Amino acid sequence: MALVLQVDNSKIATLGDFVEFVRSGVDLTDTDSIASAAPMLRSLANDHTLVVDHLNRLVKERFRKQAVPSAQVVVLAAAPGFYVRANIWPSNADVAAGRVYQDQFAYNVAHDHNYNFLTVGYYGPGYVTDLYEYDFEKIEGFPGEKVDLRFVETLHFKTGMVMLYRASKDVHLQHPPNDLSLTLNLLVAPDTVRLRDQYYFDLEKSTLLNFPNELNSSMRGSLLRIAAQLGDGNTEELLHDLAARHPCRRTRLAAYEALVQMRPTAANRLWELAAADPEPYVAKSARQHLAPAAA
Ligand SMILES: [Fe+2]
Repeated sequence: MALVLQVDNSKIATLGDFVEFVRSGVDLTDTDSIASAAPMLRSLANDHTLVVDHLNRLVKERFRKQAVPSAQVVVLAAAPGFYVRANIWPSNADVAAGRVYQDQFAYNVAHDHNYNFLTVGYYGPGYVTDLYEYDFEKIEGFPGEKVDLRFVETLHFKTGMVMLYRASKDVHLQHPPNDLSLTLNLLVAPDTVRLRDQYYFDLEKSTLLNFPNELNSSMRGSLLRIAAQLGDGNTEELLHDLAARHPCRRTRLAAYEALVQMRPTAANRLWELAAADPEPYVAKSARQHLAPAAA
């Protein structure tokens, strides 16, 4: 299960202290080591002006000059391999009234994450979350596919609580808090995170629903569909290379689809190549295209 870590201390850590602690003392590839930052993250959450100071600075220095990347996230610090950020959890009333935009993973849709993160309740009553587990390795990635989702618990994540959320293992369904709430997150994001998948789940049917649009692989696929319409000979060459070598299965499949769109007469040969892909997600999709011809 997502690990609730028992941490209670009244020390205050500065953002600089926290970043230095993680940089010098945490192995970002090891979940136990990430969990060892829990007391420090708890101490960071004891700095009650941390987020408001950053919000003030954001409004003062950046609103005129830079795009605001999100209405729900305030990045507090970025370092190689990790971020420290504040997540804003608007209340149901705020969302329903249109006072606050929600541009990250929506409430009421079960999802996993493709990165590990450590989170602490910072402000407000906190959200309620339904926690589940699943085995990433046991599923192929098709929408509608059955998933062995194990319910773990429903948790009211209150101010001061700390939880470790494990990549591609923990699934949660967030319910909006009764009042505005904030969490602080140590988000571990190695370069390779852009290659990892993430899912929405249908809890009633215990199936995969689809991939979030915000996912890098979704965006790559979308760009390749555009490239198929606008592309020339160079594009085709690039697509062949992506189809053969890109480490992301959805990107390889999207490259094959784009090639087929550009060269419909070569469809069979292309789908035969795709059918030899080591990932079932690519190979099975390809075989569906080949089946009518074989029949
Ligand atoms: Fe989430």
